[in-house]
Amino acid sequence: MNEPSIGRPRRVVDALPSYRPGKGAKQAEAEHGISDAIKLASNENPEAPLDPIVAAVAAAAAGANRYPDHRAGDLRAAIARKLGVESDQVTVGNGSSGLLNQIIVAYVDPGDEVLYPWRSFEAYPVFTSWMDGRSVTVPLTSTLEFDAQALVDAVSDRTKLLFLATPNNPTGVATTTGDLAAILEQVPDHVLVVVDEAYREFVDPRFGDPVAELLPRFANVVVTRTFSKAHGLAGLRVGYAIGHPLAISTIDKTLLPFSVNSLAQAAALAAIEHEDSITERVERILAERSRVEEALVQAGWKLPDHQGNFVWLRTGDATDAVGLGLEQRGVVVRPFSGDGVRVTIGSPAENDRFVATLEQLTASGIATPG
Ligand SMILES: Cc1ncc(COP(=O)(O)O)c(C=O)c1O
Repeated sequence: MNEPSIGRPRRVVDALPSYRPGKGAKQAEAEHGISDAIKLASNENPEAPLDPIVAAVAAAAAGANRYPDHRAGDLRAAIARKLGVESDQVTVGNGSSGLLNQIIVAYVDPGDEVLYPWRSFEAYPVFTSWMDGRSVTVPLTSTLEFDAQALVDAVSDRTKLLFLATPNNPTGVATTTGDLAAILEQVPDHVLVVVDEAYREFVDPRFGDPVAELLPRFANVVVTRTFSKAHGLAGLRVGYAIGHPLAISTIDKTLLPFSVNSLAQAAALAAIEHEDSITERVERILAERSRVEEALVQAGWKLPDHQGNFVWLRTGDATDAVGLGLEQRGVVVRPFSGDGVRVTIGSPAENDRFVATLEQLTASGIATPG
């Protein structure tokens, strides 16, 4: 039954459950009567932002009585310079999820189809339903890759958007630009293809660069990226999209006024100036990812080729029990019922704690490596 409402909400909104964000450490502590929980549930960066970024945010805060630059012109120009594209090929949004939502608002009429592999980023079905669009999903293959032929076959006259996350969330599996191009060659121009690269900085270079390699070939591709993950700015909400100027100006029409605030703009500009330090941080996370993977493989887990800042355990029917078992022992992860558990790479101490806690669950028969 729908929740009671005041006024006359749109049918699709009224039918939605209330939004419940992922559980934080404090909430898990209160629920389970424990005291030192850690959160490895939202693919956040375990390190605080770099000092010069914090300083830039503090300086911007002094001018917070003024509205920010709606177009974030300096930031667009800095991103364009960094990527070797024109400024009119770049837009910024309230996190890359803000941009994904803008894209759906800009392109999807009621009943239009939004196509994506599944399982993938949880926001795609939610944003699609807000616009009364129709989600069309194509299962990942048994090796967690995109099923290229099935995706191409699923395109119809009503398909407006195709979302391809690389690496995919929650599985962590990335797709090469060659394999993406093989899909794009068969997708008609009336479909806008969004290559969602929220975790780009963690990906092995052998997978290629969609901005450099795909945008010049395919006008119907938009790439989304974010400062939330590698740059550690999830709390400030700034992401960006790169594509053909006509697609970018369409997406810009749905940018909520001033939605990239002045602190976020200052932080992102400072992050671009300190890319070397960001790269060092990424390398620390990659080293930790390898260490966690080695421990998991030793424990008998069969892992996909993770390319993000998280790992994916195929726990199947035991998923709820494994998720709860970890949480009751103070390690908050992200279970996807019946499917698997996604665990963010945290600090070395947090990662040790996750591995040791999972071993306890295995010893007590709650988790079965597979
Ligand atoms: C695949 C994918 N895309 C986009 C996002 C959105 O990130 P943000 O809105 O913080 O940029 C996430 C966040 O977890 C993600 O996993």
